[in-house]
Amino acid sequence: MLVEKNVPLQHSNSFGIMAKALSLVRVSAESDIAAVLQDDALRAMSKFVLGGGSNIVLTGDVKPLVLKVEIMGKRLVGETAKAWIVEAGAGENWHDLVTWTLQMGYPGLENLALIPGTVGASPVQNIGAYGVELQDRFESLDAVDLTTGQRFTLNAAQCAFGYRDSVFKHTSIATSAGTPGFGLAGKALITHVRFSLPKAWKAVLGYADIEKKMQQAGVHAPDAQQIYDWICEIRRAKLPDPQVIGNAGSFFKNPTVSPEQCADIIQREPKIVHYPLADGTVKLAAGWLIDACGWKGKSVGNAGVYDRQALVLVNRGGPGNPVTGGEVMTLAKAIQTSVYERFGILLEPEPVVV
Ligand code: EPU
Repeated sequence: MLVEKNVPLQHSNSFGIMAKALSLVRVSAESDIAAVLQDDALRAMSKFVLGGGSNIVLTGDVKPLVLKVEIMGKRLVGETAKAWIVEAGAGENWHDLVTWTLQMGYPGLENLALIPGTVGASPVQNIGAYGVELQDRFESLDAVDLTTGQRFTLNAAQCAFGYRDSVFKHTSIATSAGTPGFGLAGKALITHVRFSLPKAWKAVLGYADIEKKMQQAGVHAPDAQQIYDWICEIRRAKLPDPQVIGNAGSFFKNPTVSPEQCADIIQREPKIVHYPLADGTVKLAAGWLIDACGWKGKSVGNAGVYDRQALVLVNRGGPGNPVTGGEVMTLAKAIQTSVYERFGILLEPEPVVV
């Protein structure tokens, strides 16, 4: 095991923020974690698990020991009457996995094409797009406890998935019964994720952007490859490519409000984009709220609001003068303040601030 010192992280976070890992160990197998835990000094350090770095804001050099996940491999590990079970190493690129499953004839992940990041990060925030969330295709995952070195497996219920949420984002989750629960933030490293891809594949359509593509192409029953191609086109047209313009995808979660709150806002803001949810609450489009406050295209220092999707904050600095985490957070707070002042809604950031 090699402990690297003062490792530049600019190319390991999708914002392109300049920061260093004071100490970093590359984890390409479970044995690398065992080696870290056998070392007294390393065992005592707090740990920061780094995947593709596509959902983080670095506000300075990272002092905890960075465990850079590089566990690879993708394979079919099982088959039931209803589904293919595919397993991937946590270090695999998410989009490569989606592409590979389609090539192998196991559709089901196509709506999640082109989401940046790694397989290991996908359950942490229960990634989702165009009507599909990771939890809809999830079978189980393996992880290692970073204190004891014990390997454990979690099923979907144990992951406590929610909208952009899971047990891995909490230090302690209250259960539905109100008793204190158990959170795994900072305590575990995901090594492998298994997906259950239904043999009776059914297209997930219904999103306005997809409906538009269907109409334009005159296609009423698209196959998985067609949906994958459309999703790639839609995302490329609307979202900045992190290789070209640094960003961390949606910066805020879409907030939910009660029907009464929503009715009250509609009275004042008749055009507000909102979607009623099955549980009776109403989801509001955070991008619309930010846009309505006039933020689209604006900048604070080198931090900017993307001009084609106000929900995405971008790095407007050049490679030698990139945005800082502080600038991103200053812009984020200014947006939160103006959305709160106009709509009475506090937007919750999606990325992890380090
Ligand atoms: N809108 C505006 N102005 C904007 C942005 C959006 O008016 O600047 C309006 C749009 O016209 C639309 C509505 O807001 O009516 C929703 O916008 P969009 O369809 O682009 O989706 P979103 O709610 O902004 C969510 C996810 C995305 C995911 C898309 C598609 C969250 C936080 N974001 O965005 O996920 O790709 O739906 O399913 O849930 C990500 O998490 O990084 C991400 C990109």
